[in-house]
Amino acid sequence: MSKTIAVIPGDGIGPEIMTATLRVLDALDCGLEYDFAEAGMIALDKHGDLLPKDTLDKIARHKVALKGPLTTPIGGGFTSINVTLRRHFDLYANVRPAISFPGTKSRYDNIDIITVRENTEGAYLAEGQTVSEDGEVAQSIIRNTRKGSTRIVRYAFEMAVKKGRKKVTAVHKANIMKTSSGLFLNVAREIAKEYPQIEFNEMIVDNTCMQLVMKPEQFDVIVTTNLFGDILSDLCAGLVGGLGLAPGDNIGEHAAIFEAVHGSAPDIAGKGIANPCALLLAAADMLDHLGMVEKGTKLRQAIRDTMTNDRDSVTPDLGGKGSTESFGEAIARRVKG
Ligand code: NAI
Ligand code: MG
Repeated sequence: MSKTIAVIPGDGIGPEIMTATLRVLDALDCGLEYDFAEAGMIALDKHGDLLPKDTLDKIARHKVALKGPLTTPIGGGFTSINVTLRRHFDLYANVRPAISFPGTKSRYDNIDIITVRENTEGAYLAEGQTVSEDGEVAQSIIRNTRKGSTRIVRYAFEMAVKKGRKKVTAVHKANIMKTSSGLFLNVAREIAKEYPQIEFNEMIVDNTCMQLVMKPEQFDVIVTTNLFGDILSDLCAGLVGGLGLAPGDNIGEHAAIFEAVHGSAPDIAGKGIANPCALLLAAADMLDHLGMVEKGTKLRQAIRDTMTNDRDSVTPDLGGKGSTESFGEAIARRVKG
């Protein structure tokens, strides 16, 4: 049975890494059909709209999208397209795996951490940000809800069970932010009781930063609120060698958008040297999400094997002399085998 997904190639290096990714998905033979949609600068130029309604309709219809990076023009009052997409589809879970790969500049080789970040509330509310008339006092609010905390913590535990993970760490600052972080922590403790097979622990966010840098192998799944998750997931990406290997999954009840964490990389766009792996790893997560877990695992293994054995084909950011195309082709050959 074939499944159709929305495909948004995006701006800058987006079309290059998307072409490589789709070639690999075709080689994997997972029966996917692609419904191409436009967003970002390319859509602004063609249709006068950064995020055309047709693109939103396609995501809503297919419920799953694979998305390249989008450039939000600076100035002109444009809101980030990524933030708009997240709000429009209520993509409350931002899932960011950080896994060690061979042949990177990372100082660790045994990291496998998934950060599950709440994506819709916490400290990132659009409303409630005020500055006093004299400009002397600025304030913003942090709002966590029981509903928001419950759904993100439950997502983390359900994901842990499904993926056979052993431990969930709830990261908080409830010792100081007693109400907002306290609510999140209480909900995490309650829900943890429903999953006795998963080890649960809690950790204060500043200590977590230190522990991640000193002893990252103690972490498995991290669940946390919006601001802490934003920071900690970038820290984790840094632990495994940076942006070229960091996928970001945005999951909601009614839609899911899979993308690379990095942006459109205008400095290398059109040169054919962008690393396609972050988008490929997002595609592997998408295959898991679509119930094709074996295919997702095979794709991750092919990336790993290529990085170990096909050093000539890998892109310059990983120390190779290859191109987006040669890297993609080498991975495609391995998933076929
Ligand atoms: P960036 O992630 O595009 O680039 C940062 C640095 O990493 C650059 O030196 C770039 O060459 C390198 N890099 C990024 N991806 C790479 C890859 N796959 N292979 C090899 N090198 C890679 O961040 P920057 O420059 O801050 O943002 C550029 C544009 O991207 C901005 O317009 C921003 O709004 C947008 N952006 C979009 C995102 C999205 O759609 N999810 C996320 C982040 C930024
Ligand atoms: Mg961030």
